[in-house]
Amino acid sequence: MKDVLKELERRREAARMGGGKARIDAQHARGKLTARERISVFLDEDSFEEFDMFVEHRSTDFGMETSKVAGDGVVTGWGTVNGRPVFLFAKDFTVFGGSLSEAHAEKIQKVQDMALRNRAPIIGLYDAGGARIQEGVAALGGYAEVFQRNVLASGVIPQISVIMGPCAGGDVYSPAMTDFIFMVRDTSYMFVTGPDVVKTVTNETVTAEELGGASVHTTKSSIADGAYDNDVEALLQMRRLVDLLPSSNTAEIPEVECYQSVTDNDMSLDRLVPESANKPYDIKELILKTADEGDFFEIQASFAKNIVTGFGRVEGRTVGFVANQPMVLAGVLDSDASRKAARFVRFCDCFNIPIVTFVDVPGFLPGTDQEYGGLIKHGAKLLFAYAEATVPKVTVITRKAFGGAYDVMASKHLRGDMNYAWPTAPISWRPSAAMSTR
Ligand code: HXC
Repeated sequence: MKDVLKELERRREAARMGGGKARIDAQHARGKLTARERISVFLDEDSFEEFDMFVEHRSTDFGMETSKVAGDGVVTGWGTVNGRPVFLFAKDFTVFGGSLSEAHAEKIQKVQDMALRNRAPIIGLYDAGGARIQEGVAALGGYAEVFQRNVLASGVIPQISVIMGPCAGGDVYSPAMTDFIFMVRDTSYMFVTGPDVVKTVTNETVTAEELGGASVHTTKSSIADGAYDNDVEALLQMRRLVDLLPSSNTAEIPEVECYQSVTDNDMSLDRLVPESANKPYDIKELILKTADEGDFFEIQASFAKNIVTGFGRVEGRTVGFVANQPMVLAGVLDSDASRKAARFVRFCDCFNIPIVTFVDVPGFLPGTDQEYGGLIKHGAKLLFAYAEATVPKVTVITRKAFGGAYDVMASKHLRGDMNYAWPTAPISWRPSAAMSTR
């Protein structure tokens, strides 16, 4: 019996070493943590229950039968974040570059199924080179099984992806179907085809960072919802996000103690909105003064800055904030802002998170750029999202609400539950009409 236990411990120790010391050192030298180190930062201490630690791939092609590593490049299981259960998988780059084999995919599918059955969030930590080249179609099939589960879980449990190294080929599509994607600056990148293929096909010379780094995906493509300076910061911020979200679409919104008096009047808000209609002010000040203890988790802070989206709490319970930002393009609605806010509103609606909307909008952005870019349909996405949302909707017009944008921004005609306005707010069918009546 003792020998069996000793052997089990030896195997566990070997599995914990993944691809071996040299590869772990290389991972550290690149400023990255290993899969297991990441899990220990993300989860509550000693809460991780690992599954399938000894699973190996089944490939016998290209000499793979002689090259097997326990766990097969992904660490899976469940644990808690501030006491609440979450399921997770973390790609282990030290084992075959974290690439996905049939067996590796089955491990991910298992935690996806368990997360959905148990109605708990699932978090994927990515650091991987795509499909395991040696497995071909078996790996492709594994991806499709993962994608199918992403779709079945969509809107039922929160799904979060964190990109912490390469994320290429088949690995990009599962994150793309989750609710949020976050990246780590300088060490992570995401693309369907890498710089070499780009050079061959289009003759463009581009680095991995230029093609799919955190800066590209948070500012240009809007693929990523945020970026952090290193692994530890990213993982701690993910704990903060999980804290804000309900575990599923039928779970209660998590409630924390609120230490701020809700009856206090913040007189500084009287001076927030300038008298001159042309003078900008920072709508984030209003959000920070509305959210408990000024705690605001912004989503897509670097993209379409003319609209602000993110989570905070009011009296200890999570709300979603959507606000036009007068500091950027006077808070106008364009295609990017509409898409960004629509996605956020739909997420809140799926997970029963009330929406607080602050309105200061001059209308939709005119011009050929916008019209050719599909402003009509992108604008309609936000209109549709607000009109469809059945969560509590509280709207405050702080200054202008003009034209079609007045309708779109959670107006009372779209089943806004409570619609307030600053006493000085001009509401009008067009800007010039508002000006002439002032
Ligand atoms: C098998 C892989 C692998 C892969 C990396 N490795 N990617 N093994 N399949 N896809 C292995 C390497 O052989 C190496 O093994 C180890 O992982 C580390 O890789 P390096 O290349 O040394 O690391 P680095 O220089 O950091 O480059 C990382 C990388 C690069 C950019 C991810 O490895 C790469 O380009 N990989 C291939 C990417 C790719 O073409 N993926 C398939 C996409 S097709 P050793 O033993 O030397 O340590 C796809 C289709 C799915 O995914 C579509 C579904 C819709």
